[in-house]
Amino acid sequence: MDKNIRWHHATVSRLDREKLNGHRSFILWFTGLSGAGKSTLAHRVEELLYLRDCRTYVFDGDNVRHGLCADLGFDPEDRHENIRRIGEMSKLFIDAGVIALTAFISPFRKDRDLVRALVDEGDFIEIYCNTPLEVCEQRDVKGLYQKARRGEIKDFTGISSPYEPPENPEIIVNTGSDPLDACARQILSYLEQNDKIALIPHSEQRWEFARED
Ligand code: ADX
Repeated sequence: MDKNIRWHHATVSRLDREKLNGHRSFILWFTGLSGAGKSTLAHRVEELLYLRDCRTYVFDGDNVRHGLCADLGFDPEDRHENIRRIGEMSKLFIDAGVIALTAFISPFRKDRDLVRALVDEGDFIEIYCNTPLEVCEQRDVKGLYQKARRGEIKDFTGISSPYEPPENPEIIVNTGSDPLDACARQILSYLEQNDKIALIPHSEQRWEFARED
């Protein structure tokens, strides 16, 4: 990093933004095989959070790889860089007071742990979407497993590239067998029990900033 670059501290802090939004900010990190149901579940959880007046944003593997990470492929180095960028971006969203939901295969434990280490304790909630390979392959929504089996896609997770399940995820959802809404409710219950979406009262603190008039 260039030594002439210095971090500029905002006068409006994360806590100020959280108070304005009325809830805490954090990352819901969905991990699991392709076709495990990460994106579908992340969007369902987002709907439920939206109904509770929470500010959210879903980052999805296929979408991010069209833009921010369009230059990256699927070998371990590129996947590492993919997850590093998403991690940094999610960290900025936390600072912005927003709940970031990320749906990436993120197959390597060390890459996920790097993101965990990037943010404060409790801000990284790892959700293992535990759908067995056989089920993902049977669903094969995008037809990619079939192509991978035929050798038309290399480094395909679960077929020709490994997936390392989390050892101590905050939440395990059985996306292979439980209905979508049951999985979503499980996540909402975790957030309630851990005081993550309890409303923070709007604070008078913001009046301390000088007003224009
Ligand atoms: S990650 O491993 O770097 O986290 P990411 O979640 O961004 O992967 O992208 C996964 C999506 O890319 C899959 O859902 C699938 O649609 C597509 N894809 C294309 N090639 C591969 C591959 N070799 N392995 C896994 N997914 C792939």
